[in-house]
Amino acid sequence: MRLNAEELEKRGKLVKKDERYEVYDIEMEDLVLSLTKLFPGKATSGHYHEDSEEVYYFLSGRGKIKLGEEVHEAQAGDIFTVPKDTFHQVINTGDDVLKFIAVFEKYEGRGTKLKAIIPAAGHGTRFLPITKAQPKEMLPVFDKPVIQYVVEEALDAGIDNILIITGRGKRAIEDHFDRSPELEQFLEKAGKLEYLEEIRKISELANITYIRQKEALGLGHAVLQAREFVGNAYFAVLLGDVITKPACIRDMLEVHKRYRASVIALQEVPKQEVSKYGVAELGKSLGEGVYELTDVIEKPSPEEAPSNLAITGRYILSSKIFTYLAQGERGYGGEIQLTDAIRKLIQDGERVVGYIYPGKVFDIGNKLDWIKSTIMLSLESEFREEIERFLRELGYAH
Ligand code: UTP
Repeated sequence: MRLNAEELEKRGKLVKKDERYEVYDIEMEDLVLSLTKLFPGKATSGHYHEDSEEVYYFLSGRGKIKLGEEVHEAQAGDIFTVPKDTFHQVINTGDDVLKFIAVFEKYEGRGTKLKAIIPAAGHGTRFLPITKAQPKEMLPVFDKPVIQYVVEEALDAGIDNILIITGRGKRAIEDHFDRSPELEQFLEKAGKLEYLEEIRKISELANITYIRQKEALGLGHAVLQAREFVGNAYFAVLLGDVITKPACIRDMLEVHKRYRASVIALQEVPKQEVSKYGVAELGKSLGEGVYELTDVIEKPSPEEAPSNLAITGRYILSSKIFTYLAQGERGYGGEIQLTDAIRKLIQDGERVVGYIYPGKVFDIGNKLDWIKSTIMLSLESEFREEIERFLRELGYAH
């Protein structure tokens, strides 16, 4: 790589200027080069980040660079690597303008921890009449409501800042994750301490906030409600009615860290069923089960479907997606579709990666998946023998 201060100054974009310094950025494929001209006697505002290391090339002048607790002398020709998790600052101790170039990976929201959003505002028509007065996200799967599995999946991946998108008739979700003083008092008095502990644990699970989608205009519209919460950073989306086993989002975070791109979980479905899903077109293979995506299409007919790989309810997305969602374009079924916005993201040259998830996915909005998930989890529980005996009694197992 050629580090050329003149070129940076000429072609770069002036991104910051105050009485202390001027900063010019040039974006390259995966990198940003940032030329800083630091005036005599001044210091840069120290900053701290977690996600990637930076390299500082000192071009001219004389000063100091503070890396964590250590202070180093810096002059033209010196190179410093700033490791992840390091607070750093540059101080100009000379009489001339001190110039240095910082090289860092282009990564949206550097230094911020991923947040998760859980859309849970849909009508759940496929599960009527149960969902008339009860959110489908609160349906019990073995011994917990669906959405608790989803919250636990995010927590298990280290994501504890969660926004749940709710709507009318979904209050039970908020109540479920809230403290319940009367019930707690009752359980305490009755000496039912194991239940008390369980109940308290739920309300202490995570830092959950809620926002209402006033009208169920589609998944894309639900995600759009999270724009302010997310800000300028990648974020995770976990559908509130989908359970994955083992947890899918943890693997996806690894893929995201590696490729610094949006990631979408995919699974094979029978070709004749593609019209129920968003379907992906694969580009080049990046590694085991990981591909670049060249297109995604919402609910195509089997003839027009580019593959039989369906989007499965787990995403890590660039915040650029909000620009497309905000256009409010209606897609399949007259709804604002998340898949359509992802398609535009790809068409605009953003890297979107597909991760073929090898585990089990249960879409609880679908009755059959709900039954299957309950059977699977009960067979993994202390009731296994009882259930097997029961199935034999009914003549369904040997
Ligand atoms: P679904 O595709 O299952 O839609 O949504 P739905 O409307 O809930 O269900 P059916 O098709 O009528 O049976 C996937 C996820 O997106 C949320 C749902 O709550 C579910 O968790 N969603 C969907 C919203 O939050 N808002 C919407 O407008 C649509």
